[in-house]
Amino acid sequence: MEPAETLAKLIAPCDISAPEFYLIECAAHGAPWSRTSFNDCTGKYYRTQALYVDQQPVGFTICRLVADEVTLMNIAVHPDYQGKGYGALLLKDVLNYASDKQSRPQYKVFLEVRESNRSAIALYRKYGFQDIGRRPGYYPPIPPASKKETAIVMRR
Ligand SMILES: CC(C)(COP(=O)(O)OP(=O)(O)OC[C@H]1O[C@@H](n2cnc3c(N)ncnc32)[C@H](O)[C@@H]1OP(=O)(O)O)[C@@H](O)C(=O)NCCC(=O)NCCS
Repeated sequence: MEPAETLAKLIAPCDISAPEFYLIECAAHGAPWSRTSFNDCTGKYYRTQALYVDQQPVGFTICRLVADEVTLMNIAVHPDYQGKGYGALLLKDVLNYASDKQSRPQYKVFLEVRESNRSAIALYRKYGFQDIGRRPGYYPPIPPASKKETAIVMRR
């Protein structure tokens, strides 16, 4: 594979119900969303963006938009492409959207993350997210584990 910095990258709005995105969801997450939950993320209250590398979709974000809040519901990069800076590009795209000086100067960004998800937590902290709460038993277990997991709620 070519070095990440030499590849053409593009972040653009996407139809998240297209099959390639659910394939990324299932490859990236130990406990993926159901297909139905995934496909329901359409309409005016959602912002769905894809990252293309050499015209192939390799990651996405799903945000829910309510009043002056942006909630990052999902971010995933295909495992073959992780660790190359693509997750950071996707997160920066969300943060740029939420801080648009003309139309969204005061927007807050919220998210939830499994407390065991060290890489995602490190990514969020690197971009200024702070812990604001915890939700015990919020996430279903990732097999073969059988215990539900705590969510850390973060805000930026
Ligand atoms: C979380 C995720 C989106 C990060 O994407 P990525 O492309 O691998 O991340 P990047 O290469 O852009 O890394 C950006 C930062 O994230 C953190 N990070 C990424 N991978 C990490 C790892 N394995 N361990 C620790 N920190 C890590 C680091 O802070 C890194 O910055 P650095 O390289 O300067 O140290 C990706 O790992 C993923 O899709 N995971 C599965 C789905 C998921 O858990 N989503 C989050 C749900 S809340």
